[in-house]
Amino acid sequence: METMQGLKRTNMCGELSAKDAGKEVVLTGWAAKNRLLGQLIFLTLRDRTGIVQVAFNDETARDVFEKAEKVRSEYVVAVRGKVALRTPENINPDMKTGEVEIIAEEIRILNDAETPPFYIEEGIDTNDALRLKYRYLDLRRPDMQRNMIMRHKVAKIARDYFDEQGFLEIETPMLTKSTPEGARDYLVPSRVHPGKFYALPQSPQQYKQLLMLAGYDRYFQIARCFRDEDLRADRQPEFTQMDMELSFVDIDTVIEINEGFLKKVFKDVLGRDVETPFLRLPYQEAMDRFGSDKPDTRFGMELVDISDEVKDCDFKVFTGAVENGGSVRCINAKGLGSSLTRKTLDSLTEYVKTYRAKGLAWIVVEEDGLRSQITKFLSEDTVNAILKKADAEVGDGILIVADKNQVVYDALGNLRLEVASRFDIIDKSKLNFLWVTEFPLFEYSEEEDRFVAKHHPFTSPMDEDIEKLDTEPENVRAKAYDIVLNGTEIGGGSLRIYNTALQQKMFEKLGFTPEAAWERFGYLLEAFKYGTPPHGGMAYGLDRLVMIMAGCDSIRDVIAFPKVQTAAELMTNSPDIVDDIQLKELAISLDTEEE
Ligand code: AMO
Ligand code: AMP
Repeated sequence: METMQGLKRTNMCGELSAKDAGKEVVLTGWAAKNRLLGQLIFLTLRDRTGIVQVAFNDETARDVFEKAEKVRSEYVVAVRGKVALRTPENINPDMKTGEVEIIAEEIRILNDAETPPFYIEEGIDTNDALRLKYRYLDLRRPDMQRNMIMRHKVAKIARDYFDEQGFLEIETPMLTKSTPEGARDYLVPSRVHPGKFYALPQSPQQYKQLLMLAGYDRYFQIARCFRDEDLRADRQPEFTQMDMELSFVDIDTVIEINEGFLKKVFKDVLGRDVETPFLRLPYQEAMDRFGSDKPDTRFGMELVDISDEVKDCDFKVFTGAVENGGSVRCINAKGLGSSLTRKTLDSLTEYVKTYRAKGLAWIVVEEDGLRSQITKFLSEDTVNAILKKADAEVGDGILIVADKNQVVYDALGNLRLEVASRFDIIDKSKLNFLWVTEFPLFEYSEEEDRFVAKHHPFTSPMDEDIEKLDTEPENVRAKAYDIVLNGTEIGGGSLRIYNTALQQKMFEKLGFTPEAAWERFGYLLEAFKYGTPPHGGMAYGLDRLVMIMAGCDSIRDVIAFPKVQTAAELMTNSPDIVDDIQLKELAISLDTEEE
């Protein structure tokens, strides 16, 4: 193999254009393709900026030509030569550098390469397991490189923007203390304190609040977070937050600063103009209209409450739901009636059942009458009232769910998305940002039979609801806000409690005895006594934001070395067993069966 000795790269492959014609250049990269055509060789050279064609012809020195003939896919080479304009008929408009080629004078083979297990090219459909096992090759592909570059840009713009707004970047610990709220922790055993464990942070939440107390005023961090929860397309066990906290602010200030950031990042990275201020939707309105606290507003098909219209009818499914404190709601699949065949309706019924709905009722309005499985149970007046409320016209399909409100929201909110995606009615070019505000402070956990914090236990209740903390905690709203883009929650935060008594009260409502609260959070409750400024903040999921900006369906595609569904990493094969000696040092004995 040869070296770079005496050769210095002058340009990156993707940056050459017609205005470089005549220049002598030295390029390096990987051989994307090497076409041998008798007395001509066309070698396409790739680096992270793009590809360029290198030509060897009958004027090329014999030894150089012969060396070029040996180059195979993914060989690492350096080329010295002259940039030449291609003749008009040879211009390649699909290639950024397609107006030029390099007439080679020297080539060095810096390294050879085995044939990769998949093509190193745009948009391959190789299975994910193979891509992840050979992630370094997958990452060599142009689309992955674009994603990583975009991620870098977003982080860089965030750092610069928040710096300009007076934020300081401060690191917080990775080895911290387990807190019982939120997702499951990843634990790290301590060697020095046998039997004791650190927890990896689920977020820097408490540290950033303490930094406000310490007078740092505005904090920012690109922070790695760890949550041992079930994975989905937009969740990873370790992920990155762009995290911030601000003192002496109200919600409007937090929102304004962040709208400014989003406007800037979309303009600078994608060249897209984003209108601000964004819509603010109170949680309850989001649920009533979209059945979701992260509504995709790129299309309509909003939920319609028809409880009043059906509460006195003879159909038990409907009246029963209303009598039990639930509701009957529908969506109008506008103009999709003829596509709602029996088969489609059956599969949509199965779909809503996965969200615990007991069934799906439907009324399709056709030219010559109604098609429905339930109109036989309803009077003509009731049917007409439903159609009127749902704004139904010929060609529409009304899809109805009756149940407890939570089930109705969940089933119809998801059905709305499913119908939109099956019938392709979402305008993918749109960027619909909105804030969801006034979240409930608590959420009832059936599993634990107690209230848990909807956001986290440090979130402040709304002033006008504080008096309801004891009497109707389920109706207390929080000073919390999520930022939603095209139906994905890309960030969230809140104004915090900054007073010991209220924080203690919050822990009490969450079912902690005062002793347990002091044991777990004593340092925080203690700290609050020493002059805590009012403060609040938020965090973006960087991975989710970049995923949407890059137009990807999975956050894996914007994370260099992600984990799969089972939280394993296929390239290094982690997690893995460790030596007995390591376990012994940590005073850990295993209780697992040998597989
Ligand atoms: P929250 O838990 O809402 O808030 O997290 C903030 C944002 O992080 C992203 N996110 C994730 N991304 C990928 N994989 C995951 N498993 C994952 N979990 C969350 C989401 C989410 O909106 N400390 C608070 C913020 C605050 O109050 O300031 C917090 O962590 O985009
Ligand atoms: P049933 O009387 O339970 O057979 O239901 C009659 C029709 O109503 C069936 O087609 C069901 O799919 C539908 N249905 C049942 N339960 C519900 C519900 N909770 N909400 C909406 N439709 C339902």
